[in-house]
Amino acid sequence: MQLEIQHDFRFGDRPPVPKPDPQFYQFLGEEGLRKLVSRHYDLLRKSRLRKMFPVDEEAFELDKRNSADFFIQLMGVPDYYNQRRGRPALVNRHSTFPITPSGRDVWLSCYREALLETPVPDHLIHSFWNYLNVFSVWMVNSYTKIAPPTTKSTQ
Ligand code: HEM
Repeated sequence: MQLEIQHDFRFGDRPPVPKPDPQFYQFLGEEGLRKLVSRHYDLLRKSRLRKMFPVDEEAFELDKRNSADFFIQLMGVPDYYNQRRGRPALVNRHSTFPITPSGRDVWLSCYREALLETPVPDHLIHSFWNYLNVFSVWMVNSYTKIAPPTTKSTQ
């Protein structure tokens, strides 16, 4: 299965987000969805983004829970995230972390690895992946500037 990372976006873009097929969640169930998110976080911890996430085990487990709560709410019920954290406002919540386009690539690569291990029909994996691909663009809030070429003096 090919899960490609889309790059045809510009910094600051907020493309319309396709909702994932709720059947993805129905197929996995709550336990399966939490397992997927947990795997994603464990991979993030081994990636070059690891410094963004807590070292403390309890805090890390809480991160996993918050993230899984969000996806469960997105694709079905219960609205765990609203109950425990309030309105998602994810762009805001991510704004304290510098998320670059290449950071997004790493984040998505970890999800790709986790998804490829997940026993769900391909079309449902694709639907969830498309959602991640597009919505992750919204989280990008930092740019590594490339210095402009120096112009040689002709004098
Ligand atoms: C589809 C895109 C994404 C979704 C749906 C998503 C979802 C979430 C959720 C639900 C939380 C928990 C927020 C809270 O309640 O405090 C969270 C936290 C976080 N996310 Fe994302 N995220 C996305 C993309 C990204 C990307 C691309 C990065 C980095 C490259 C990232 C890094 C983080 C970090 C650092 C935290 C906070 C961890 C902490 O509080 O310790 N996220 N994300």
